Amino acid sequence: MRNFAKSFAAIAAISALALTSCGREDTGTGTEGGGEAAAGFEEGAAIGVALPQKTSENWVLAEQLFNDGLTEAGYEPDVQFANGGVSEQQNQISSMITNGVEVLIVGAIDGAQLGTQLQQAKDAGITVIAYDRLLTNTENVDYYVAYDNFQVGELQGQALLDGMAERGEGPYNIELFAGSPDDANAQVFFDGAMSVLQPEIEAGNLNVVSGQTEFNQAVTQGWKAENAQRRMDTLLTGNYTDTELHGVLSPNDTLARAILTSVKAAGKDLPIVTGQDSEVESVKSIMAGEQYSTINKDTRDLVAHAITMVEGLAAGEELEVNDTETYDNGVKVVPAYLLEPQIVTQENAAEAYADDPTLSELTK
Ligand code: BGC
Repeated sequence: MRNFAKSFAAIAAISALALTSCGREDTGTGTEGGGEAAAGFEEGAAIGVALPQKTSENWVLAEQLFNDGLTEAGYEPDVQFANGGVSEQQNQISSMITNGVEVLIVGAIDGAQLGTQLQQAKDAGITVIAYDRLLTNTENVDYYVAYDNFQVGELQGQALLDGMAERGEGPYNIELFAGSPDDANAQVFFDGAMSVLQPEIEAGNLNVVSGQTEFNQAVTQGWKAENAQRRMDTLLTGNYTDTELHGVLSPNDTLARAILTSVKAAGKDLPIVTGQDSEVESVKSIMAGEQYSTINKDTRDLVAHAITMVEGLAAGEELEVNDTETYDNGVKVVPAYLLEPQIVTQENAAEAYADDPTLSELTK
């Protein structure tokens, strides 16, 4: 399967090259580097950055960082959110293509719904970088840059176990939450966490009292806090009136706080709750002893790397990647540059956020 995926990717790379070479003629310096490198382009080129909805702070931070970083590097950024949903994002990407961007950086709402626009991009010789979320079911994505999503899930699963063990011996009663099913990351976070939790469930050390152990049962549509809060309310009334809840796997901070709100409203003791993103309110909650953990995926580093990729493409270079096996998007394995996420609890928060002016203030 893996080999098949690899040879498919190779064929896709060759056809991508062929398409590139019969694409734009006015893009400058040529592709001596080979591989999937696009023709270089000049300083001042337009770069499109399509961001999803503002479902977590990292996206909001990315907007400013892309605007400042791309401008500083000599490009003309066009950074847009699609708060109205998938069709708004499709329209924004089409406009960026019409306006002549050289590179498209896409944080998709639904990575499977941009096939038409990405084909347009490829036809126009534009390089497409999937940012944070994978673009799926398309040949027309050149690179993926993200924090290692599977590892995020593993760290969350382990933190859940560690947090509960700090409070006492098992077996423990837990519930599982996943992110939005249209975001390709959600399944990967869940799979990473379950790679740690499933053996413990099978060994009888963990008990998912509701019985809802499948991804489809655990999802939170649109990554919306109110959806997680509502599901937690239902889980509590249906399963925990006379039963203690020891832990909840939450895929991110926004949902972690919604889960904690629900548990507080039910008047129950707070369980160990995981998170992700190092959002200000969650770091405060961790320092106050409520949320147990989060993940540090410094947005500054991710955006900086995406901009480095743009610079490499401008120079006509083949980009450095560090994973060519994991991110099979259903059509090809997308060459990825993955950054390493870090688990953060009260114990290491001061150290983890030492170079973050906003978050380090909260850990004092
Ligand atoms: C990102 C997470 C974020 C979530 C909701 C995911 O794709 O990787 O960092 O919490 O989207 O915005």
